[in-house]
Formats: sequence, C-alpha cells, structure tokens
Amino acid sequence: MITDCLSKFRGLRILVIGDVIADHYIRGKVSRLSPEAPVPILHVQEDQWLPGGAANVAKNITALGARAELVGLIGDDEAGERVRAMLAQDKLLKPTMIVEKRMPTILKTRCIAQGQQMLRLDREVVGAASPATMAKAQARITTLMDTCDGIILSDYGKGFLEPDFIQRIIAAARKKAKRVFVDPKGHDYARYRGATAMTPNQGEAAQASKTPINDVESLTQAARILLKQVGCEILVITRGPQGVSVFPKRGKSILLPAKAREVFDVTGAGDTFISLFSLGLCAGASLEDAAALGNLAGGAVVARHGVATISQDELRAAAQEDTHA
Ligand SMILES: Nc1ncnc2c1ncn2[C@@H]1O[C@H](COP(=O)(O)OP(=O)(O)OP(=O)(O)O)[C@@H](O)[C@H]1O
Ligand SMILES: [Mg+2]
Repeated sequence: MITDCLSKFRGLRILVIGDVIADHYIRGKVSRLSPEAPVPILHVQEDQWLPGGAANVAKNITALGARAELVGLIGDDEAGERVRAMLAQDKLLKPTMIVEKRMPTILKTRCIAQGQQMLRLDREVVGAASPATMAKAQARITTLMDTCDGIILSDYGKGFLEPDFIQRIIAAARKKAKRVFVDPKGHDYARYRGATAMTPNQGEAAQASKTPINDVESLTQAARILLKQVGCEILVITRGPQGVSVFPKRGKSILLPAKAREVFDVTGAGDTFISLFSLGLCAGASLEDAAALGNLAGGAVVARHGVATISQDELRAAAQEDTHA
C-alpha cells in the first residue's frame, strides 16, 4: 500500500524555506450595485486569515503529523503579526520569521461573493532583502539543517530565495547529505542547480524549458531539458487534472493519471503535492509511491472547499476510496 510509509511521518522533521504569504479572505454577499460607481457592493460577513506560500507547505507537513521548521520573511506590520499568531498555534511547527523592515508582509486579499472570487488585492514588494536579514536567515538555516530529515524550498518568486542564497543552501545540504526538494518559479532554473528534486507544474515546465507541452513526447522533451539544466536527480511535472509525471535522471519515467474529482478549489494543490512527495521519500517510500501519495493528496485537497491541507486519516480514506473505485 502506498500509505504504508505514513506511520513513519511522525518521526520526521522537514525544514521549509521560502516566501511566506498572508492569505486574507473577505467573504460576503453581493445583492446590489453601488450608486457611486458601476461596481457591486460586497456586504462583508466574514474575515478569514490563513498562512500561505511556504507557510502553507509547512502547515501541510504538520497536518500529516511530521515536524516542520519554517524560515521566511515578514514585514513589521499587522499582516506579519497575524502570520506569527497563526503559526504559533501549531505545536509541530517551529517558525523563524525574520522581520524585514523595508518590506511589507506579502498579503493577498481575496474578496469572495456567494462563493465566487470577485477581486484579489496583492500587497507586496518583490525584491532582495537586506544583507543583514539574509545573514540572519543563513545562520538559522545552517543550525536547523543538522537536525532535519529533508529540505523544501518553496519559491513563489518574491525575492527571498535569490540565486546565491539558494546555491549556499544546496551546497550545505549536499555536504550534510540532506535532500533538497524545490517548488520552483521563474524562467531560469539554473539557480536550483544541484537540488535533489523539482516539482514545477506543466505551465512552469513549458516556460522554463522553452518547450510547448502538448503530448507525452513534448512533456518528456521538456523534462530532459530541465533535468540537464538543473542536474537534479528527479524532475516531477505536476499536471493538474492530468496528474503527475515523474522523470528520474536515470531509469524509466512514471506517468500517473489524476483521480477524477469534482474540483472546488485548485489553489495550494502544488503545496500539498510537494509536502507528500518529500515526506514520502524521506520516510523511505519508492519514487513511484511518493509521487502516487502526492497525486492522491493533491486530488483530495482540490475536491474540498477552503481546505489546503490533508491529514493522515483523510489520506488513508482517499486511498481506500481509490482501491474500491
Ligand atoms: N483538477 C484536479 N483533479 C485531480 N487532481 C488534481 C487537480 N488539480 C490538481 N490535482 C493534483 O494536485 C497536483 C498538483 O496540482 P497542479 O499541477 O495544479 O500544481 P500547481 O499548479 O503547482 O498548483 P498551485 O500552484 O495552485 O498550488 C496534481 O499533479 C494532481 O495530483
Ligand atoms: Mg505551484
């Protein structure tokens, strides 16, 4: 069973490094247009805050019973305080949130009327943090690396994971024989050189390899280009409703179809995938089983409303459903 390795998750500690985001949802009802301008009026009924980006990856790790250390940046502001407060509630999660005074906390506010998103407001400054901030992050990561079982770089392209910084992390991890799993962003994957595995989605893989993907052949071609560029052992391309394809540096590729689902909310499926895939491999599962676990979990989170993580029990139930389907 692909779920056999789940019992080992409790003993694992994963170091997550990346762009921390505050996700803010404003939910309400629209029943009329404004007299001031031709825009709908959202009558607000509920405010909800959730940890996003790299923090959502860390939450996915702890939801599965493993421990997570999270290193990321926040601003000196209300959204940053909210992120801190949310993370402090999770006993399995140890956050190191470094305050970068020059930048605001990355904040995404989604306005939702009758379950439908009507507007997203982004507040962020994309760019490099100060040298002092980066030195603090580096020192903390060096310490945490000794006791972790694996490292996830959750890159949302906001500037924290700059190329030199990534390369220092990967070099240190290799020295200590720790695996590095990367959820990449951007066009130039050379910055992730030497990582163990990368998990771009199909659109990202097509862009980074400059190869339009429209069949298995072009998919394989794109994967070969990226494997060469990054020199990683495993390239995984997540393909949304089409599932997951795994390309090891050597050996046969593995193509896993997605489980047919009614989809409610696709955001965060990539975070859930990399969490399961990394935990699976760190727990000693085969490459195929780790990818199948990620595929199963990704499919399960998109099928549920407003839920971005999955527990071991839910994953076992999804696996059961699958075998009976
Ligand atoms: N509509 C879907 N039906 C079934 N499974 C899905 C669906 N969407 C996503 N998944 C599962 O989740 C995995 C990751 O999704 P996807 O490829 O969309 O990642 P992503 O684009 O990085 O997501 P995001 O960035 O929004 O978190 C897929 O490989 C698949 O296993
Ligand atoms: Mg993604």
